[in-house]
Amino acid sequence: MKTYENHSLLPYNTFGIDVDASYLVEYDSEEELVQLLQLDLLKENKFLHIGGGSNLLFIGNYQGVILHSHIMGIEVKNVTDSDVFVKVGSGVVWDDFVAYCVAKNYGGVENLSLIPGEVGATPVQNIGAYGVEVKDVIYKVECIDVATGEKRIFTNPECKFAYRDSIFKRELKGKYIVTAVWFKLNRSPRLHVNYGSLAEEIKKYPEPTIHEVRQAVVAIRQRKLPEPKVLGNAGSFFLNPVVDQNHFAKLQQQYPDMPFYDLHDGTFKIPAGWLIEQCGWKGKSVGKVAVHGSQALVLINKGGANGLDIINLSDSIRQSVREKFEIELTPEVNLIFG
Ligand code: EPU
Repeated sequence: MKTYENHSLLPYNTFGIDVDASYLVEYDSEEELVQLLQLDLLKENKFLHIGGGSNLLFIGNYQGVILHSHIMGIEVKNVTDSDVFVKVGSGVVWDDFVAYCVAKNYGGVENLSLIPGEVGATPVQNIGAYGVEVKDVIYKVECIDVATGEKRIFTNPECKFAYRDSIFKRELKGKYIVTAVWFKLNRSPRLHVNYGSLAEEIKKYPEPTIHEVRQAVVAIRQRKLPEPKVLGNAGSFFLNPVVDQNHFAKLQQQYPDMPFYDLHDGTFKIPAGWLIEQCGWKGKSVGKVAVHGSQALVLINKGGANGLDIINLSDSIRQSVREKFEIELTPEVNLIFG
């Protein structure tokens, strides 16, 4: 276990925001985490657990303890005729795990290639891309109860997964820390390549396998999404909003070319990137921050921006979208106020 005082969080958030935490603690095992939770340091201070820092926006210095898992390891636990069950430590870099699965021909996560972040955070926000969500392959989630230090296992249904959502973001927010995730992967992979841009990209490969799906997804992401090491960002800044049938009908009449996903429950999801682009924000800069030129859903730190610069841009975008479409955009990124 390593503890640092007044430590810069610059390497711990992909937005590249330079704030300090009063303390930063990195632990290497479940046992260390349990010991850590008993320390006065955590009893006397507020704390926040982070993963790869790819979905966070720090608004100011963090006056508390930042926890970070270094629990590593990818272990095959069970193999059946059709499936393989793999246990993965919360500190493993997500895309390293995807690369491992693709190399072994274990299907299920290839569409989620190149998503930044670490394995422990994936069930919390149910990461998703190109028609697949991590909930489709999660078997169970191992956690530690923050209050008691006891271990608890959540089966997939107990996680109450939904679009970018789970029980860990709602009723159990802050109550459990994920230490490992078990995945159920397919030994005879079935491809999921119907999603618009992936369906197009995959045509380059006459007989695609999961290797090619990974290559195609990587190519699309590299084209559309900025590399956080070069331009600070946290992926999609907003959730894609959902509107009801009446609102949808009105919008469609006015904007017949508007893209949408029919959720088949009387509601429709509209790509926030499209709404933002229609408001003229795509590629626009405001001081040290900007809206990405290839994907309007991504806000970027051009260098030296602080959290408030990003929030101000986000507020202006939300106002435009509210005025033009009567839609309220909700940030997907977690805003952390000191
Ligand atoms: N669009 C525009 N202008 C833009 C961006 C998008 O018009 O600037 C329209 C296009 O019509 C496009 C449609 O929106 O066809 C959808 O765009 P895209 O395929 O890029 O997906 P998205 O809905 O904008 C979501 C996820 C991404 C994920 C992609 C691919 C959310 C909030 N975002 O974006 O996730 O990679 O689908 O599956 O659901 C993330 O969560 O950080 C993230 C990048």
